[in-house]
Amino acid sequence: MAMELSGHLAGLVPGPVLGIETSCDETAAALLAPDGTVLAEALFSQHEDHVRYAGVVPEIAARAHLARLPAMVEAVLDGQPAPAVVAATAGPGLIGGLVVGAGYAKGFALARGIPFLAINHLEAHALSARLPMLGAPPAFPYLTLLVSGGHCLLAETAGPGAHTLLGTTLDDAPGEAFDKVAKMLGLGWPGGPAIEALAVEGDAKRFGLPRPMVGRPGCDFSFSGLKTAVAVIAATYPLGALPRQDAADLAAGFQASVAASLADRAGRAMAAFVARHGYAATLVVSGGVAANGAIRARLAEACARAGFALAAPPIRLCTDNAVMVAWAAIERLRTGLAPDGMDVAPRPRWPLGAGVGEAA
Ligand code: KG4
Ligand code: ZN
Repeated sequence: MAMELSGHLAGLVPGPVLGIETSCDETAAALLAPDGTVLAEALFSQHEDHVRYAGVVPEIAARAHLARLPAMVEAVLDGQPAPAVVAATAGPGLIGGLVVGAGYAKGFALARGIPFLAINHLEAHALSARLPMLGAPPAFPYLTLLVSGGHCLLAETAGPGAHTLLGTTLDDAPGEAFDKVAKMLGLGWPGGPAIEALAVEGDAKRFGLPRPMVGRPGCDFSFSGLKTAVAVIAATYPLGALPRQDAADLAAGFQASVAASLADRAGRAMAAFVARHGYAATLVVSGGVAANGAIRARLAEACARAGFALAAPPIRLCTDNAVMVAWAAIERLRTGLAPDGMDVAPRPRWPLGAGVGEAA
């Protein structure tokens, strides 16, 4: 891997950085000053385009990115200093959207004669907690917990390009499980916010739902057994006739089980970190599921027990956005990592820590 670890401020960021995010169903562009100050930002959630299908339709997402991205970039650049670098998410994600965003960014770089960076979406989430607007940045190394609709991992983040994967999901991502369980309970999409709202009225203990992986060694995750447990109970009611209180009890139980599972897995990662380094550090949590108040509360408890600080960026920076993409580019350049060539191809699967051209 072409990297220098000779000092965090090793490289120079030559001017404003334009970031582009199109890996899922958010179209986003942002312009950051070299010090990470957000100069301008635009974000469009394609929720309306996908809601009738109760999930993201890749072809619709790609067309929507293509239709909206150019005008959004123009709006972000309006009245601002010219970008000196352009960075786009190049994976992992839906290939159609990645081709649109990375292709646009390469064209932009070529037309203006500026460097292009292919950003790993997972790395962008992992580094987002270090954005200067969030105050004191967590020092490397720290633990990253990424929990979203498409992703689920625990990693040790030692710097840009330097991540060690500690655990991942054996089946569903937690947000995916929230979305599927919401469907079973007759709630809308996306399921996370709907379940969280209904859970307030519920008794989490009533159905005695399993708490996946709790107590098991390692840091892997699993949510499909829990999802099936909810499905089996929901199937005992006539179709479409789940009483509200029962749905609320299932929602509360499911949410509590996910929270307990994430807290257990994070707890194990923190204990292993302390054993490895001899000190406690920070747990960074990112991704849409990190918006959940009950989950944040359980993670905060686990961190307090382990002596770790919890860094959870505000929700708009936890979910997909272009600020984190531009910021990841700044972090990479500062570390001395080189920009990418025009020959790099978007990668629908791109493990955290691997270079864009490296085998999985
Ligand atoms: O990070 P994100 O916006 O997009 C990606 O998947 O990359 O995450 C979306 C996921 C959806 O599955 C949604 O149901 C879940 O995050 N989510 C939540 C909450 N808000 C969004 N899950 C639990 N509780 C929430 N409040
Ligand atoms: Zn994401």
